[in-house]
Amino acid sequence: MATQRTFSIIKPDATERNLTGAINAVIEKAGLRIIGQRRIKMTREQAERFYGVHKERPFFGELVDFMTSGPVVVQVLEGENAVKAHRDVMGATNPEEAADGTIRKLYAKSIGENSVHGSDSEENADLEIRQFFSEAEIVG
Ligand code: CMP
Repeated sequence: MATQRTFSIIKPDATERNLTGAINAVIEKAGLRIIGQRRIKMTREQAERFYGVHKERPFFGELVDFMTSGPVVVQVLEGENAVKAHRDVMGATNPEEAADGTIRKLYAKSIGENSVHGSDSEENADLEIRQFFSEAEIVG
C-alpha cells in the first residue's frame, strides 16, 4: 500500500472544548503523521468554497455558520493508505453510528458538530490540501 496524504480539519466544537491534543493523539495512534498543521478562523468565503459540493443541501447555511463560528485546525496527514485510515479513525459522520474508539464516537456532539473532517478520496485530498497549504508548509 502506498504512502498517501489526506486533509483533516479539527472543527470549532472540538477546539472550543480544548480537544486538539486529544484528537491529535488518536490520529497519531492510528499511524498517521501530522506533516502540516495551522490554527485558523475560516472566512465565509473559505467555508463556502470548501463545502461547495454541498451548496444545494438544506444544511449548507448551518454548516458554513458552524465552520466559521470559531477556530479550526487544518492539517495534512501522511501515512499508508491515509485517506481510508483517517476515515476509519474518524468514524461515521453521525456520531450515533460511529464505532467505539473513533474520534466522532469519543467527541462529536451531533451530525453537524461532529468534531472532525477528513477527505473522502485522494483526488479531493489533493484539492483540499491545496486550498489551505503551500508545499513549503508541509514537512514530511
Ligand atoms: P464533513 O465530513 O465535514 O462533510 C460535510 C459535513 O456536513 C459533515 O461533515 C457534517 O458535519 C455536515 N452534515 C452532514 N449532514 C448534516 C446534517 N444532516 N445536518 C447538519 N450537518 C450535516
